Amino acid sequence: MLNLRQMPEYTFPEPILWGSATAGHQIEGDNIHSSHYHNEQAHPEYYDEPSGKACNSYELYKEDIELLKKLGHQAYRFSIEWCRIQPEEGKIDYEALAHYQDMLDRLAEAGIHSSVTLVHFSVPWWFDKKGGFAKAENLHYFTEYIDFIVPKIADRVGSWTILNEFNLSRSLDPIQLDRKIGCLKAHCAGALAVKQYSNAPVSSAHAFVHQDPVRPLDKLDCTMANLSDWMVNEFFFHAVRTGEIVLPYRDMEYMPELKQSCDYWAINYYHRTPVTARSKTGLGTKLEFARYKLVDCDFGQREFNPESFMQCASRITDKPVWITENGICCDDDRFRIMYTMLQLEAMKMALAYYPELKIKAYMHWSLLDNYEWSSYIPRFGLCDVNRETFERTPKPSAWFLKEVIERNGFSGELFEKYVPELSGFTLYEGVNKAIGITIN
Ligand code: BGC
Repeated sequence: MLNLRQMPEYTFPEPILWGSATAGHQIEGDNIHSSHYHNEQAHPEYYDEPSGKACNSYELYKEDIELLKKLGHQAYRFSIEWCRIQPEEGKIDYEALAHYQDMLDRLAEAGIHSSVTLVHFSVPWWFDKKGGFAKAENLHYFTEYIDFIVPKIADRVGSWTILNEFNLSRSLDPIQLDRKIGCLKAHCAGALAVKQYSNAPVSSAHAFVHQDPVRPLDKLDCTMANLSDWMVNEFFFHAVRTGEIVLPYRDMEYMPELKQSCDYWAINYYHRTPVTARSKTGLGTKLEFARYKLVDCDFGQREFNPESFMQCASRITDKPVWITENGICCDDDRFRIMYTMLQLEAMKMALAYYPELKIKAYMHWSLLDNYEWSSYIPRFGLCDVNRETFERTPKPSAWFLKEVIERNGFSGELFEKYVPELSGFTLYEGVNKAIGITIN
């Protein structure tokens, strides 16, 4: 284990644009026209709890901007909810448009770079009912929406992400493959449409999950890790670099326009996936981060692994890299500070290893403890949100990050200041209870 307290003072060689990220459905509340809201009501059995009022950010957005200012953030990634602008097919809600325009104006006044996501998972329910992005014939709904919204906001947007994380599925199921290809084409059409109105850089956020063979010398572990990697990561990079859409058991499609669809790599980085040939899921046992259970629920991403960022970074040195999400869910905020330190260290090492690598931005996930797609238990926020009053309270990690931003760097001393001691963690029932480690 690295001795975090003894890390020397480090300043990133180039200024990084620092900030945080959120998504509409996870913070705004009452997102009633979205596919997710609909499904939460129609199938409560699939959800631990519904999103409800979330962080009430649709009402409290001015407070959120004040918070960003107070915490020294230079950039804010958020989504404009398509379903609020077009609650029904063919109908525009001009009040919702004015809401987002006001938000962009206020961010600009505050000197905060707006990084706008056009689709962060949730889409209008009417669009989802038609089959969403999985159906090629639906693409025009999205490009028509872009042609409407983008010219109305383009002058205030600093950067764009078209779609969020459509890369994640490893499935070879034909419907999942159709969805993936549909999203890739929507990303491409969306990016080209945005470029007609805006010179700001465009991309789609890619969840870069390192697929790690459990036994690196085992041929089948490696073969499976390679296949997973293609499905999750490389199909996207390959498509953008070459225009070739290559997926297993499909004829290759050539779409040269893809080569113009990303000005930068928008990377959401959290964890790795252990891959093994010795389980029928292909997945190895996930280890809890630093062998502590961070939240009192079984959370899919729980093997947070800053070190794998280096392997990932080595593969994306050909375009500027924006870290559009990075963070950890934990009840004990000291883990957030520790994880962030380790992530910054991994960025420093990656820059040292790969001189061609350009890390331009870092946006922490997330500004607030928000709705984690099924539950409020995993808490990713730099700020706590009172579930009754919606009062926001910055955690120590938020002040830690503020100092990182001011220095464009970090040090062991800074860690020591915010985490003076590391004993007394909350341990949960279950296997983790018996496991302890010493961190100096
Ligand atoms: C998603 C967020 C999510 C976060 C933490 C990312 O994959 O973009 O919406 O909340 O991970 O799970």
